[in-house]
Amino acid sequence: MDHRQIELVQQSFAQAERFRPHLIITFYSELFAIEPSLKPLFKGDMELQRRKLAGLLKQVIESLHEPEALLPEVRALAMRHVGYGVQERYYDLVGKALRRAEARTWRCLHG
Ligand code: HEM
Repeated sequence: MDHRQIELVQQSFAQAERFRPHLIITFYSELFAIEPSLKPLFKGDMELQRRKLAGLLKQVIESLHEPEALLPEVRALAMRHVGYGVQERYYDLVGKALRRAEARTWRCLHG
């Protein structure tokens, strides 16, 4: 991504701030609808989980100008996911759930 693209992503992310809780809640409900067997992997408080995911997303967007700065943290996050029982194939499901959640949030906003 060049400088201009990063600026655009950061601007639209900031503009969408108030819809983020909707997006994140919808994301987990879509994920569990696609693959109900993933639900038991989440043993903690889901509200806390949603906040952690939202916080990390914000960090990623803020670091787009220097993504390397985030690498050590992302590596450690990936290692923790092995411990949570996450398998490689689940990442596709997460991508699918994110796209569906985005579409649902969009429909919710624009009718
Ligand atoms: C796009 C990649 C992903 C990101 C950015 C992400 C982000 C996070 C974050 C920030 C946490 C909070 C705990 C921590 O920091 O260790 C977490 C926990 C967790 N994630 Fe992910 N995650 C990703 C992919 C996945 C996938 C594919 C799964 C599979 C279902 C998954 C399942 C979990 C589980 C089970 C937990 C622990 C929840 C608990 O403690 O109850 N994550 N994730």
